[in-house]
Amino acid sequence: MKALYNEGKRALNRAPLQLRTTSLRRGLSIKAARYLACASRTARDSLCKAAMKKRGYMLMRKYWLLWLIAVIPSGLRAQTPAGATGVVSYVGSSVCKTCHPAIWERWKRTRMANVVTDPKGRPEVVISDFSKPDPVRTFAIGDVAVVYGGKLKQRYFRKSGDDYFPLPATWDVTNRAWRPYTHTEQPTSQECDGCHSVNFDIRTKTVTEWNVGCERCHGPGSAHAGQPSRANIVNPARLDYIKANDVCIQCHSIGESALNPIEGRNYAWPVGFRPGMDLSKFWKFDDRHATGSDAAYFPDGTGSGNRMQGNEFVTSLR
Ligand code: HEC
Ligand code: HEC
Ligand code: HEC
Ligand code: HEC
Repeated sequence: MKALYNEGKRALNRAPLQLRTTSLRRGLSIKAARYLACASRTARDSLCKAAMKKRGYMLMRKYWLLWLIAVIPSGLRAQTPAGATGVVSYVGSSVCKTCHPAIWERWKRTRMANVVTDPKGRPEVVISDFSKPDPVRTFAIGDVAVVYGGKLKQRYFRKSGDDYFPLPATWDVTNRAWRPYTHTEQPTSQECDGCHSVNFDIRTKTVTEWNVGCERCHGPGSAHAGQPSRANIVNPARLDYIKANDVCIQCHSIGESALNPIEGRNYAWPVGFRPGMDLSKFWKFDDRHATGSDAAYFPDGTGSGNRMQGNEFVTSLR
C-alpha cells in the first residue's frame, strides 16, 4: 500500500496540471488522487507502470474501477468545504506542493522557508557552540524549544505557558561568539511570531505553519486549491507596484502595528494584513530618526540595523 501510494504521489506530481486539477476538483482528497493517478489508466506514466509491475500491482491496475470505488469514500470525507462556502482560509504550503511541486522544491531550500526550527526534530540547524562552557550563555541546548535563523545571528527560545521567550544569549555567526541578549521578557507572540509564520492568530497563538510559507506572499489559498484559477489567488506580479512591494515590506521593515493597542496589547508586526491589501492601513514604520543610541537610522537616513529594507526603500522614494 505504502509503495503504491508513493508511486501514485510521484505520478501525480508528473501528471499534467489539468489532470491533477480535475481529480481534486471532483472532490477527491489529495491522497485519493495520488492512489488514483497510479491505479487508473488516466496516467499513462511509464515509470509508474513499471513500478507497479515490479511490485505486482498489475491486477490492481486492471481492476482500477473497483479500486476507485474503494478509494472515493475516504476522499470525499477528506474534502474541505471552504471552496463551497466561499470562505477563504489557509491550507499550508504542503497543499500547494501537490500542484506546484517544482516551485515547492525550490522554495523549501530557501532561508525564508527554514528560519524557525525545532532543534529536537532537526539538530543540524544548531550552528553555535554548546560544547564549551561560556559565561555569556547560561542555558543548555536542552532548554531550547525553538531556534531562529543562522545567517547573521542565531537566537534561542524557551517555551513558557502558550508563548515563547528569548533565552539570554545570541550566537554571532560572523565572529563565532556568544553575545548577551537582553529582551528576554518579551513574548514572541507580540514581538516576532507574526512575521515568522503564516496566519499567526493573536488570540489562540497558533499558526498554519511556521516560516514564510507560500500563502504569506500569495494570500490564503483554500478556494484556489479547491478550484484553481488565476482569479482566486494573489500573484504579486499582477498587483500594482505599491501593493506588490508591500508583500515583501510587510516583513522586511521595522515598525509597529497601526492598530495598536489591539485588545490591550502592542504588536511589532502588521496584524491583519494580507497580500493585496493596503499595508499603510496596518503598519507604521519605525520613526526613531532622533539621534542617540536607540535611533533606527543613521543621520543620512539609511537603516542602522538589519531588516530595514522596506524603511530604506520607501524613504528613498520620498
Ligand atoms: C489542485 C491544484 C492546485 C493547487 C492545490 C494549487 N494550485 Fe496554484 N495553480 C493551479 C493551476 C491549475 C493554476 C493555473 C490557473 C490558470 O492559469 O487559470 C495555478 C496558478 C497559480 C498561481 C498563478 C496565478 C497567476 O496570476 O498566474 C499562483 C500564484 C498559485 N497558483 C499559487 C498557489 C498557492 C500559493 C497554492 C497553495 C495555497 C496553490 N497555488 C495550490 C493549481 C493548483
Ligand atoms: C517571499 C514571497 C513568496 C513566497 C514565499 C512564495 N512566492 Fe510564489 N511568487 C512570488 C512572487 C513575487 C511571484 C511573481 C514573480 C514574477 O512573476 O515576477 C510569485 C509567482 C508564483 C507563481 C506564478 C508564476 C510561476 O512561476 O509559475 C506561482 C504558481 C507561485 N508563485 C507559487 C508559489 C508556491 C507554490 C509557493 C510555496 C511553495 C510560493 N509561490 C511561495 C512570491 C512568493
Ligand atoms: C512573512 C515574512 C516575510 C515575507 C512576506 C518576505 N520575507 Fe524575505 N525573509 C524573511 C525572513 C524571516 C528572512 C530571514 C531568513 C534567514 O536569514 O534565515 C528573509 C530573508 C530574505 C532574503 C535573504 C535570503 C538569504 O538566503 O539570505 C531575501 C533576498 C528576501 N528575504 C527577499 C524577500 C522578497 C523579495 C520578498 C517579497 C516577494 C520577501 N522576502 C518576503 C521574511 C519574509
Ligand atoms: C516585521 C516583521 C518581523 C518581526 C516583527 C520580527 N522579524 Fe525576525 N526577521 C524578519 C525579516 C524580514 C528577517 C530577514 C531580514 C534581515 O535579516 O535583514 C528577519 C531575520 C531574523 C533573524 C536572523 C536570521 C539569520 O539567519 O540571521 C532572526 C534570528 C530573527 N529574525 C528573529 C526574530 C525575533 C527573535 C523577533 C522578535 C523579537 C523577530 N525576528 C521579529 C522579520 C521580522
